[in-house]
Amino acid sequence: MYRTTSCNSLRTEHIGQSVTLAGWINSRRDHGGVIFVDLRDREGLTQVVFRPEEFAQVSEQSHGLRPEDVISITGKVSQRLPGTENARLETGSIEVVASELRVLNKADVPPFPLDDPSVNEDLRLHYRYLDLRTAPMQRNLKLRHRVVKATRDFLDEQGFLEIETPILSNPTPEGARDFLVPSRLNPGTFYALPQAPQQYKQLLQVAGLEKYFQIARCFRDEDLRADRQPEFTQIDVEASFITDVEIQTLIEGLLSRIFKESRGVDIPVPFPRMAYAEAMNRYGSDKPDTRFAIELVELTDIFTASTFKVFASVASGGGTIKAINAKGAAALFSKEQLKKWEEWVKTEFGAKGLAYIKWSTGGEWESPIVKFFSDAEKKALAERMGFVEGDVLFFGADAKHDPVCEILGRVRLRCAELLGLIAAAKDQLNFLWVVDFPLLAFSPEDNHWVAVHHPFTRPMAEDVPAMEAGDYGKVRAVAYDVVLNGVELGGGSIRIHERDLQAKLFEVLGVNAEEQQVKFGHILKAFSFGAPPHGGIALGLDRLVMLITGASSIREVIAFPKNNRGCDLMTSSPVEVDFKQLREVYIQSTAKKP
Ligand code: AMO
Ligand code: AMP
Repeated sequence: MYRTTSCNSLRTEHIGQSVTLAGWINSRRDHGGVIFVDLRDREGLTQVVFRPEEFAQVSEQSHGLRPEDVISITGKVSQRLPGTENARLETGSIEVVASELRVLNKADVPPFPLDDPSVNEDLRLHYRYLDLRTAPMQRNLKLRHRVVKATRDFLDEQGFLEIETPILSNPTPEGARDFLVPSRLNPGTFYALPQAPQQYKQLLQVAGLEKYFQIARCFRDEDLRADRQPEFTQIDVEASFITDVEIQTLIEGLLSRIFKESRGVDIPVPFPRMAYAEAMNRYGSDKPDTRFAIELVELTDIFTASTFKVFASVASGGGTIKAINAKGAAALFSKEQLKKWEEWVKTEFGAKGLAYIKWSTGGEWESPIVKFFSDAEKKALAERMGFVEGDVLFFGADAKHDPVCEILGRVRLRCAELLGLIAAAKDQLNFLWVVDFPLLAFSPEDNHWVAVHHPFTRPMAEDVPAMEAGDYGKVRAVAYDVVLNGVELGGGSIRIHERDLQAKLFEVLGVNAEEQQVKFGHILKAFSFGAPPHGGIALGLDRLVMLITGASSIREVIAFPKNNRGCDLMTSSPVEVDFKQLREVYIQSTAKKP
């Protein structure tokens, strides 16, 4: 037997018992011939003592032990000497006096100290199996398991069936690029890895399964960020004969269970609901972080007759002027800093500028634009913005409404970070439903309308006339996102279940009849055989666990993630494959790995 118990189980009531433990050497200290080892397994640490006066041979053997060696020891549980207890360890009142030692495997010196949180992430990812031995990573993976378990339990209780769907499938339009897999048996054809099980879960509704869920792996070839991985996991849900509010209530119940079981907190339900248009207007984002108060304020009417040409022409031309007040931020902004922020919005978001007014305590308004403002404009501005000494105002003006909101939304978040408002609110959980999304958005690059959520999303009944009239920008969707602290946790919609409406929507999206048959013939046909009304949602499991653990990136809650270039540094994936393997799948590669 390697062990009789874990390294986190022994307490004072076990004193006198003989036990066997197995694990890794977490640390080793030599106190004048007496060797102390902290032995570690998944559950925790136990101090093991090798006493030369009692067990000479075993003690001699212990001198060769090094961190990360794998051992099994047998010994007696003993009270620690008074004053040597360790209150930080759950096993801190006892130690095991070793009478037997088996070295199960020796370890090389690890490439980095496992308990050093400042180790470079690339190095951690290269030796991920060592990184995963650390307490924070073990905690994250255990919590991820708890979340998945709570999800399965809850949805099972609600009558949902867990059903797997294919990984080798057809392209499904979720807005990202597909990962393609060549088919050897069908030369010249490709599978796509699913960006989401969207079409299958709808087909399961046509199939009469009524309530489906899956802890589904999804694949999207897109630019990676802290909260985006090329393969990630969704809690994917779909049901028949269900309304949008019923789905939202179900998800509130699921998230309540998850937070209760993983973090021990009760989250208040129902979550507040906010229309997309309001979210954009007030927060400049479709996933607003509502934990702090800075909001976007409309100023267009104040500047219609301004002598500041930029504002006057925007205001009279039907554009938008808005500002935010970074309260108390004046002392944090030097002139250089303000210049830098202006550069940032210009280069990152193509903004035309970032006008500001800084009002240092006891000082004048400092700004490149106030010299153009009349006294009446200044007064109206200060009043509307609640502008007082110590504050900084940032302005956005553009002929188009949404870019002004989005840019100020980004500036808003950065101000909140700088002012420490996000750090101060880190324990707050602000859930929010964003609803009433537009169904369609015009894409200037593609020169046609694209689906804001995906093409299977249902238009609101009252906006169908607008759709039929070709007024596509006015049509709202029965779609909803659940947002937590400014992160989009999940999104879903009620679907189109009528063949003709679905075909009509494809047509609006620029998919002609012939292409519809090739790409979506299966789903259109399925809809003609009695498809029930249905809808669903998918939550990003990785993002959810990231927020519960307080991690700053989803890489921290995924066992083997890719880095920002989509590479697995441990296995060196992706790799070049040899010519023969490529030939078998009828692929010719001209590119070389850099
Ligand atoms: P959507 O595309 O909004 O909807 O995705 C749902 C949720 O999945 C998470 N997510 C990601 N997480 C990590 N890395 C990524 N690259 C990534 N992309 C998305 C987000 C997001 O909110 N089929 C629809 C759902 C439906 O309509 O039922 C869908 O996939 O948390
Ligand atoms: P300019 O007249 O271009 O020198 O701009 C004067 C100030 O107004 C600068 O601080 C610019 O960043 C700012 N500014 C110019 N255009 C805009 C705009 N569309 N929105 C916000 N600020 C602007």
